[in-house]
Amino acid sequence: MDAQMLIDEGVSILKEKIDDVAIIACSGGIDSTVAAVMANNAVGEMLHCVYVDTGFMRKGETEEVREMLTELGLNLKVVDASDRFFKHLEGVTEPEAKRKVIGEQFIRVFEEEQAACGAKYLVQGTIAPDWIESGGGERDVIKSHHNVGGLPDDVDLTIVEPLRDFYKDEVRNMAELMEIPSSNRQPFPGPGLAVRVLGDLTRERTEACREACAIVEEEFETAAAAGEMEIPWQYFAALLPVSSVGVHGDARVYGETIVVRAVRSIDGMSARYSEIPHSILQKISTRITNTLKGHVNRVVYDITHKPPGTIEWE
Ligand code: XMP
Repeated sequence: MDAQMLIDEGVSILKEKIDDVAIIACSGGIDSTVAAVMANNAVGEMLHCVYVDTGFMRKGETEEVREMLTELGLNLKVVDASDRFFKHLEGVTEPEAKRKVIGEQFIRVFEEEQAACGAKYLVQGTIAPDWIESGGGERDVIKSHHNVGGLPDDVDLTIVEPLRDFYKDEVRNMAELMEIPSSNRQPFPGPGLAVRVLGDLTRERTEACREACAIVEEEFETAAAAGEMEIPWQYFAALLPVSSVGVHGDARVYGETIVVRAVRSIDGMSARYSEIPHSILQKISTRITNTLKGHVNRVVYDITHKPPGTIEWE
């Protein structure tokens, strides 16, 4: 089936399933935006679109997403829930525990928004790898993607997942047809930077990771535009809770580590690490250690394929 037929079929299924007010969490990522536009086509004004700022978004992301979703004609509310997420994640470092907390807090924010608009349905942009990797079949749980495994049992909304059977490349094709500007954007995990800040999720460490991610994105995109490298499928930085000794001028410093990750992939199910010219990695390393002086004094590059690694570090 071509992408237009998949969209039309999705819209008609949504029309049948949703007969009352619905709410969708839209992160501006490709999956939730495609799901939101589909649902908006199906039920129009009955759909309330909520963007939750968890505090783990990329640099400038909230403003960019606000603009894009508004232009797509969605009925949007931006909720700043960062205090709540940081509070509940205090002291939580185990990756699965983090995902559970994030999934649960998302739902709690939603319940408040649901109460405000009286929604009976929750539309989600879950795609096939999300539930396959969350143990939807007979395989082991690899990661509980926050929009699946993290759901508590007491959810008081009927969940509708129009993209459940699709893979990333199919969803990208749909997004292109829908003229969604994010269709060329790289994927970003639902829990956001929370799974890229290993160890304690403090505001300061999250800010360091956010800055490093922005540097990686900017340098790769500039180099790719200049024809110096191919743009990877996904590229980012993660902050590791590994401190090492370094030197700044004459002074000994003790700081944390940033790992740069870049992969080639089709659908995220498997991936090869990208071979990046050393000159570009060098530039990134210098920028990160200068910008995050005092916090980060070492930058490493991850040369692990998936499998055996996963793309994200948590
Ligand atoms: P991994 O790290 O499992 O990731 O190799 C595969 C792809 O999925 C993204 N990812 C997520 N997406 N919710 C999402 O919507 C999540 O909880 C989540 N965890 C990972 C990841 O960025 C990669 O593109």
